[in-house]
Amino acid sequence: MNVILLGPPGAGKGTQAEHIHQQYGLAKLATGDMLRACATSGTAMGDRIKAIMAEGALVPDDVMVELIRGRVQAPDCLNGFILDGFPRTIPQAEALDVMLESEGKRLTAVIELQVNDTALVERIAGRFACAKCGAGYHDAFKRPNVQGVCDVCGADTFFRREDDKPETVAKRLEAYNRATAPLLPYYRERGLLRTIDGMAPIAQVTQAIEAILGDAAKQLTYRQNFL
Ligand code: AP5
Repeated sequence: MNVILLGPPGAGKGTQAEHIHQQYGLAKLATGDMLRACATSGTAMGDRIKAIMAEGALVPDDVMVELIRGRVQAPDCLNGFILDGFPRTIPQAEALDVMLESEGKRLTAVIELQVNDTALVERIAGRFACAKCGAGYHDAFKRPNVQGVCDVCGADTFFRREDDKPETVAKRLEAYNRATAPLLPYYRERGLLRTIDGMAPIAQVTQAIEAILGDAAKQLTYRQNFL
């Protein structure tokens, strides 16, 4: 299965992508994480990316397409992948279509997480992550089981993202509405878009995604066996 998670900043894409990665063994391709790694590389390209992200703007399409092209061809994507943060523009989506076709692959579903703007700002303002393993938490919605200790790796240092400052979040939301929201009709017209209520509690959103992936898996099996 090859799945895209679509939604504005703070919609829960990263939270759910991690779950799907663990549960279904799909490779997780999170462009924000890839870019944050690149931004600390000390290269000229890394510095350029860091400045763009700090502004809440989008990294140029050609850079993003090359980044993803290298990943979808990697062996860990043979059983499928989940895209978190890509595509974010129509040219990125078109490039992905061409890339997948040349690899003999197809998208299984594009899952939109719908969340209202007030909740997004609240979610982003409360978000923090483990400095060692990157596991994500929230002041109100997802605290570590033991305060100050990461549930996953036991580390006791956490960080908040640079681009989670309120003024940068407003720019990221603007970029989403201008450049990324047009992907909704793009994928709807192709019969791939499935929309779920991202305002529900985390576990309920997970259930809704699992239901979609369960249906998709049945359809895939049917196609492979009977068509
Ligand atoms: P990226 O890292 O992808 O950030 P984003 O899309 O803005 O998304 P976030 O990571 O902020 O939110 P999320 O939807 O993953 O939510 P999360 O699960 O963390 O991109 C960063 C930057 O990189 C971009 O601004 C751009 O500059 C650049 N970039 C990346 N991809 C690019 C591309 N393709 N093209 C160009 N530029 C690109 O959840 C948020 C919080 O809410 C968490 O604390 C979580 O615990 C909590 N939460 C989650 N779900 C729920 C729920 N159901 N109820 C209550 N709380 C919840």
